[in-house]
Amino acid sequence: MEIFKTKATLKAFLKPLKESGKKIALVPTMGALHNGHISLIKLAQQNADIIICSIFVNPTQFTDPKDLEKYPRPIEHDLAMLESAGCSGVLMPNVEEMYPLDEDENWHINLGKAEFLLEGEFRKGHYQGVTQIVKKLFDAVEPDVAMFGQKDFQQVLMIKNMVKYFDLPIQIITCPIIREDDGLAMSSRNIHLSAADRQHSLVLNESLHFVVKHFDEYSLEELEAKAKIFYKDIEGVELDYFTIANGNTLEPAASKDEENLVALVAAKVGSTRLIDNMIIK
Ligand code: PAF
Repeated sequence: MEIFKTKATLKAFLKPLKESGKKIALVPTMGALHNGHISLIKLAQQNADIIICSIFVNPTQFTDPKDLEKYPRPIEHDLAMLESAGCSGVLMPNVEEMYPLDEDENWHINLGKAEFLLEGEFRKGHYQGVTQIVKKLFDAVEPDVAMFGQKDFQQVLMIKNMVKYFDLPIQIITCPIIREDDGLAMSSRNIHLSAADRQHSLVLNESLHFVVKHFDEYSLEELEAKAKIFYKDIEGVELDYFTIANGNTLEPAASKDEENLVALVAAKVGSTRLIDNMIIK
C-alpha cells in the first residue's frame, strides 16, 4: 500500500493507471477507522480496480474547535486496517497541503435548502466545509466512483448536490450503515462514550427500529411522538431531533405515501453527539 503526503505524488502514481484504463475509487475519511470504513473499502473493490483512501481531519467542517482538537487520530492503527483490507493507496496530506496559505479561497456554493435543515441547524456551515474538502479530494484523485456511508445521510445528499453543481463525472455510491452487535451505528466518535453512555446510546437504534417496525400502524405524528418518548428520562441523553423526512429534500414528510422516507435522529449522549438514521422506504 502506497502512502502519499502530497496531491502531486498521488497524481503521478495514478496517471499511468488511468492511462491503462484502470477504474479509480476514492474513499474519503477523517481516520479513526472502524469496520464501517472497511465496508466502504470492500464495496469500492467491487466497483473499481484501484482504491485510494484519504485520511484528513478537515478543519473547515468543525463548528466547535474543541471537537476538532479531540478528534481521534490513531494513524498506525488506521494504516494497518487499510493495508489488511487491500487498499491500494492512502492520501494523508497536512492542513497546508489542502489549504495552502497563499491561496485565498472563499468557498460557498448553493447546496439547496436541505443544507440548513437537521445537522445544518445545529452545525452552521458544516456542509460548506464538507463539500469544500470533498471537492479538493475529488480534484486531487479524479476518481470514477467515491464511497460514502449512509450513517451521514445528509452528508451524502449534500455531496451529491455538490457533484451536480459542478457537473462532475463521479458516481457517488452510498454504503449501508454498519452496526455493532447491539445495534449502535459504528462511528469514530463512539470511543468517547463512557460505559454508561455506551449503554444509553442504544436508544438511537431502538427508537429508529420502532418507527420502521410500526410504520404501518400509526400516523407520522404518532410515530414521531412515540419515538421521542424513548428519550425521556435517560440520564445524560439530550435529543436534538427525531424526524421522519423525505429522503430527497429532508423536509418533514407530509404524507406516509411519499416515495423516499427516512427516519433521522441526533442526540447528545454524555458529551458525545451521535447521529443515526434508517430508511423506511
Ligand atoms: O464523513 C467524513 O469522514 C468526512 O465528513 C469526509 C467526507 C471525509 C470529509 O471530511
